[in-house]
Amino acid sequence: MRLRRRLALLFVVTPSVMIAVAFVVTWQAFRHAQERQLDHALLARAHHRAQLVARDGEQALAQETLPEAPATDLDELVQYSAIYRVDGSVVAATENLGIPPPSLQLLGFLKSANAAIPREQAGLEFSIRGNVLRGVLVHVDLDRGPGQRLLLLAASRSDIDTDTWYLVRLMAAVWVGATACALVIGWWLGGYLSRSIEVISATARRVGQGHLSERVPNTKDMAESEIRSLAEDLNDMIDQLSRLLDLSRRFVSHAAHELRSPLAALRGELELALHRPRSLEEYRAAIREALGDTERLISLAEDLLTLARLESATRRCEGSSFPLQAAFDDALRDSAAAHSSTVRIDASFLDLQIVGHRADIRRLLRNLLDNAVRHSPQDGVITVRATRRSPVPDVKAAPAQEVVLTVEDQGPGVPSELREKIFEPFFRGEKEREDSGAGLGLCIAREIVRAHGGTLTCEAGPHGGARFVVTLRGNESFAQRRTRANGEDERGN
Ligand SMILES: Nc1ncnc2c1ncn2[C@@H]1O[C@H](COP(=O)(O)OP(=O)(O)OP(=O)(O)O)[C@@H](O)[C@H]1O
Ligand SMILES: [Mg+2]
Repeated sequence: MRLRRRLALLFVVTPSVMIAVAFVVTWQAFRHAQERQLDHALLARAHHRAQLVARDGEQALAQETLPEAPATDLDELVQYSAIYRVDGSVVAATENLGIPPPSLQLLGFLKSANAAIPREQAGLEFSIRGNVLRGVLVHVDLDRGPGQRLLLLAASRSDIDTDTWYLVRLMAAVWVGATACALVIGWWLGGYLSRSIEVISATARRVGQGHLSERVPNTKDMAESEIRSLAEDLNDMIDQLSRLLDLSRRFVSHAAHELRSPLAALRGELELALHRPRSLEEYRAAIREALGDTERLISLAEDLLTLARLESATRRCEGSSFPLQAAFDDALRDSAAAHSSTVRIDASFLDLQIVGHRADIRRLLRNLLDNAVRHSPQDGVITVRATRRSPVPDVKAAPAQEVVLTVEDQGPGVPSELREKIFEPFFRGEKEREDSGAGLGLCIAREIVRAHGGTLTCEAGPHGGARFVVTLRGNESFAQRRTRANGEDERGN
């Protein structure tokens, strides 16, 4: 069933059932209240008559008007009364009944002649000549004469039934009206809500078929805030999806381009080598060139694999704790700084421990050092510093700490508008386009830091060079742990 029909049905069925139940309860309560009211009035009047009969004898019943009786709603009703013997036979009755009144056995109020009869009974219903009556039965203790008698006082219940049926008809009319209104409102509301949802689902379907330019239209005009935010979330999701898809397309095209250049160079060198017979030395030179290109290809393939591995790591990597100094020494050995005689490295670390993967941190440091060396001037100094920062500023001895590492050079620096862009894959500055780098170094560095739950940013150094700031999760060194434990012991004492 379509959403509109379902909503309309829900909107009709729920309130109409609730209203119907409420009306049935009201109808029954009203009927019982009316009957109780009649029973009370009949009982009061019956006791009064019983006193008159006890005082004046059974002929008192012949009187139609009883001036000293308490005034009740009953006065408006025709009343019928009859005096019975205790065995159920009739003694006397008012004439307005039209026929001699039946015995109590016939009326069903007395099972047998000897059966015990309660002092008063109310709510007795019987029918005479199609007229339904409701009455009460009370004992009469005659002052003199034959002793015990029973007085039956009854009134027609037509008034109660008329009032009750009037109420039922009124409630039924209200119910029909309310149900019709609910149906109209439900149908309109169902159409209104389902229209927005259908637009959203049609958009989702089109996007699923590959039309990433589709968006849910006119989200601002959607009145329901939940549906509006659903539509806006869907639009945001499609934006994000198409952005990611665009990035991945650009990445693939860049990667193909980067792979093609060394492959084309390799083919050219091999073709040239085979073009004519060459000396052994010339063949060696050609093979060396080809080897250089092959190494570029391998390093590019490794970079791409590293990036893919880091990007697919959805969880923060845990790793183990190791000294930052050791990872730095390894990185220094691998980096261009090890072979450069034109730059000087000024590194100073505290006794710092890092939590993570040592090989990745080594790769991060190597990439930053390589860049710093590449952009440093002749005899430039590369300054590497690492400090500890407590995530809770006032608790210096907190066990979980952040390590802030900075790598700063004296090169030209990175223009402020490029400080985020340089972390994009395959981005290279104007000057570096002709270099052998692929533009993946900083992208890999940032992914490593991200996988370790830290941050990597670029800023301007105080002397105009580039400063790369890395934050990583630290850990206590043995010496720190001992100092902290001693401090706690002293406080404990
Ligand atoms: N220390 C630095 N000073 C100035 N510019 C820098 C510095 N480090 C990086 N850059 C700029 O950022 C760009 C991207 O750096 P990245 O390390 O990602 O690539 P690359 O060094 O060109 O190549 P690869 O690292 O893949 O060999 C560089 O081309 C350069 O323009
Ligand atoms: Mg680099």
